[in-house]
Amino acid sequence: MLVNLDAVLNPARKEGYAVGAFNVYSLETASAVYRAALECRAPVIFAFGERYIDVANIKVIASMVRTMARDTDIPMVLHLDHCKDLSVIYRAVAAGFTSVMFDGSHLSFEDNVAGTRRVVEFAHSVGVTVEAELGSVPFDAAGVEVPEEYLTKSEEAARFVQATGIDALAVAVGTAHGEYKGKPKIYHERLAQIASLVPLPLVLHGGSGIPDEDVIKAIGAGIAKINVNTQISSAAVKSLREIMGRQKPGALADVMKEVEDVMTSEVTGFIRLFLRNKTM
Ligand code: 13P
Repeated sequence: MLVNLDAVLNPARKEGYAVGAFNVYSLETASAVYRAALECRAPVIFAFGERYIDVANIKVIASMVRTMARDTDIPMVLHLDHCKDLSVIYRAVAAGFTSVMFDGSHLSFEDNVAGTRRVVEFAHSVGVTVEAELGSVPFDAAGVEVPEEYLTKSEEAARFVQATGIDALAVAVGTAHGEYKGKPKIYHERLAQIASLVPLPLVLHGGSGIPDEDVIKAIGAGIAKINVNTQISSAAVKSLREIMGRQKPGALADVMKEVEDVMTSEVTGFIRLFLRNKTM
């Protein structure tokens, strides 16, 4: 069943679990997410990022995911991940996406509010939900601790949510995109402060490589959506390397199926972790 973010995230925040948002840009990545959701009988978010616009046709991705979601009663969201370009947001909505992320985290507070409001006005008029980001979750800065000035400020978060009418807020609380070189420092106190002022579902980007106990604690504090990409992609590439090292790697169809199985089991692991402390 295809739904928007509200349908899966509002119960998640209330009942103390998180829904995984996994990047999809091919049949295999989408099938892996779909199969994992069926196996866990849990809602899931298919996330196609603006950065994949030249990797896979957005309309084909949309029809593929919509076809998968139609075949089950499990709630599934087709979400546009990290998008700065309004024209891509319009294209995604026209293609049938049920949710979008406007990423104005590089803008000033005022410009982020203005851009996000514009997206909310348009998206809500057609039943599409909106995620936005405040503070900055760094890309490729995972070798060092995320400096405090990058973090989301709780008072600003409350004002931002009021001013924009968004459905979910991505917060910067110490995670980063990509592979961590050491153990990431998660600013749990900051997250708790934000959650005490913002009743909306909160989103954690950079979900790969965070210790389980930090993930569980963050979900307990109000994180209802966790974005994961790198760990699944790395597992797939590692598996490909191993297959290619064999004397007879086999036909491409079988190779891709084996890689898809590896991704399915990675995604399943994340979904189970995110559901661990579900209260109802
Ligand atoms: P990772 O690639 O670090 O798992 O982050 C994914 C993400 O946040 C996508 O928006």
